[in-house]
Amino acid sequence: MQTAERLAKIPPYLFVTLRNKINEAKRQGVDVISLAIGDPVDPAPDSVIEALAAAAKDPENHRYPTDEEWGMLAFREAVARWYDRRYNVQLDPSTEVVALIGSKEGCHHFALGVVNPGDTVLVTDPGYPGYRPSIWFAGAEPVAVPMLQDNDFLPKLDEIPADVARKASAFYLNYPNNPTGAVATRAFLDELVAFAKNNDIVICYDNPYSEVVFGVERLSFLNAEGAKDVGVELNSLSKPFNMTGWRIGMACGSPEIVDAIATVKANTDSGIFNAVQYAGIEALDSCDAFTEKMLGIYSARRERVLSTLRNLGWDYDPPKGAFYLWVPVPKGYTSAEFCDYLFDECAVVVAPGAAYGANGEGFIRFSLTVTEDRLDEALARMRDTLPMFEFGE
Ligand SMILES: Cc1ncc(COP(=O)(O)O)c(C=O)c1O
Repeated sequence: MQTAERLAKIPPYLFVTLRNKINEAKRQGVDVISLAIGDPVDPAPDSVIEALAAAAKDPENHRYPTDEEWGMLAFREAVARWYDRRYNVQLDPSTEVVALIGSKEGCHHFALGVVNPGDTVLVTDPGYPGYRPSIWFAGAEPVAVPMLQDNDFLPKLDEIPADVARKASAFYLNYPNNPTGAVATRAFLDELVAFAKNNDIVICYDNPYSEVVFGVERLSFLNAEGAKDVGVELNSLSKPFNMTGWRIGMACGSPEIVDAIATVKANTDSGIFNAVQYAGIEALDSCDAFTEKMLGIYSARRERVLSTLRNLGWDYDPPKGAFYLWVPVPKGYTSAEFCDYLFDECAVVVAPGAAYGANGEGFIRFSLTVTEDRLDEALARMRDTLPMFEFGE
């Protein structure tokens, strides 16, 4: 049976591999604790669940979604209110916002709507594993831009070779960053807009962790002057409202790109279940306090992990965003070896940095999206089992 050649390029999806490993160990009776996947275990806000239930009872909402590929105007208006309130960014809901089935869908449809076969597209290394397959599906080639600790995990735009920058048609970035937790600064965003303008590059600023920052400014790409001239920001209700399974997000910014994404959607899917969009309006309009509460929870978990790591020899002050801790591996291990070691010794699963790109080697990623008791159990196993580690070359 023939399958498409384009699939041959796609490596196994990291989390499918991890999930298989976890399931296999569980089948063998091992009490595995996964700190690998960024999928909140805490529930969505009650009022959002109630809004979904109420909307689901109305048969009018059982039909194809309103304004299919764009998302219902009431949802897009709620997105505009949220951006205004949380980021001081003004959006025209009729031309500058399109609803998405999560930002992952946006990453994919951005490529189909913006990139031509044969193009090159810049992606950060390390970076979210979803970008490369989307670029390949569009017939283009990803080009890695290093994102290193010595520059706070921000790419050095002035070190991208001029011919590479001129040739590229688009650039995927994401801050607060998965996997490193790095956050952008206003100066960086301004520099990014200038870089995009100078090189005629369209920016896909993937920002689902925009709300998840610890003691630093919340930033949207659209805060930068001229951002709407060069790109879009993808965002999502997955992370701020614990709604990963609900599949709802948005692309905002350049009307041309928003329209291109909507055109791809019009020919691909039929939009988001109306009841989920009504629930999304509730989340965006009324759940700021919920997001703040979750930040307090993540902050406490973060401190607990860091305290255990410090007791085991780590001396590391991580970046201030996303619900991940991007942690150097001890001397003598690759990231995959250290993950295996942690799994074998403690039945704790974390994500190997190398899975996020060559520059991810030397790091592992802890996710803070487990319950307190499971996190404490994982940390207790680490404290009780592991030796003091050494770091450096
Ligand atoms: C950087 C990044 N982009 C996109 C996504 C997908 O998010 P969504 O649930 O909005 O599709 C994730 C999920 O982990 C992510 O880390």
